Amino acid sequence: MLQLFSRAVELLQAGELVAFPTETVYGLGADAANPQAVAKIFAAKGRPADHPLIVHLPGAGHLDQWARDIPSMAWALAEAFWPGPLTLILKRASQVPYAVTGGQETVGVRVPSHPVALELLRAYAQAGGGVGGMCGIAAPSANRFGRISPTDAAHVHEELGDAVALVLDGGPCHVGIESTIIDLSRDDGFPPRLLRPGHITPEQIATVIGVMPEIQNSGGAPRVSGSLDAHYAPLTPMRVVATAQLDAVSHELQTRNARFGLLAYSLLPVGIRPHALRQLSSEPEDYARGLYAALRELDQAGNEVIVVEAIPDSPEWAAVADRMRRAACGSGTA
Ligand code: TXA
Ligand code: MG
Repeated sequence: MLQLFSRAVELLQAGELVAFPTETVYGLGADAANPQAVAKIFAAKGRPADHPLIVHLPGAGHLDQWARDIPSMAWALAEAFWPGPLTLILKRASQVPYAVTGGQETVGVRVPSHPVALELLRAYAQAGGGVGGMCGIAAPSANRFGRISPTDAAHVHEELGDAVALVLDGGPCHVGIESTIIDLSRDDGFPPRLLRPGHITPEQIATVIGVMPEIQNSGGAPRVSGSLDAHYAPLTPMRVVATAQLDAVSHELQTRNARFGLLAYSLLPVGIRPHALRQLSSEPEDYARGLYAALRELDQAGNEVIVVEAIPDSPEWAAVADRMRRAACGSGTA
């Protein structure tokens, strides 16, 4: 592994792409201070170039390289949740290339907690980092644009093939859905805004900063690519079905011999016979961990439709509900 880390650092310093595991999902990394390297991320993903990327740092001590006018709330959140699945949107330091911020005056930063990600970031910093001695690795999720995020090294190979020079394998991701994003770049008087729900909840954030973040409504311009409606989506059409309707819907599909996949968390009534079944936990954090892999498998099982048992409508399920809504919205569109 040691040799792999030095190879990864060399590649990053040469402006190449390296995929690596984080606790949330796998990232497709490049030297965040090198606009040519960052351009390769957009090309490999097929992602529009005006979408900003998250910069991964070895520690909060590197924040000053990337952001300016850092509010005390940011330091408090970093102290409480880093390394971990929380991304802070801050005002961009002048040396941060627009390629990484999507042309915006703000930058997204986080310190991931996965040991392989941290080791890579530390080795990178020790080797002098990237262009201008800046130590940040820009990394969106390592999937093709709009598709299901990878939570395993094999998913990254499936998504990106030869487009990435090296994939570090850290096993399956523990959190399984992308980081919580909170915007702290707003002018004085405006509360922080939650741009993407995740494992770290608004309530946990409020405990640290003393105010409840504003929850962004789903309309408005997509400052976060994950906030586009069609996202995280399988190619097979998805149909979300209430638990009480699962029996009736399955029987209807079985009657007309439709090949369907089923993603469920409840105990299923007898007589439901999907072509492929993925049973996840009824506990939201465990469910989140398995969600993307389950959707990916059901998508690849040659189903006409993926039936998804509707998840509970409660705050603990908010982050999963967000991914589910987008997946259903973008599904079936090649
Ligand atoms: O958990 C994660 O955040 C994973 C891992 C790899 O760290 N990364 C990830 O990246 O989900 P990505 O690019 O798929 O989604 C992160 C989102 C982007 O959609 C981007 O729009 C948003 O973060 N973002 C980054 N910088 C931003 C900024 N300055 N303002 C608003 N949104 C920003
Ligand atoms: Mg993504």
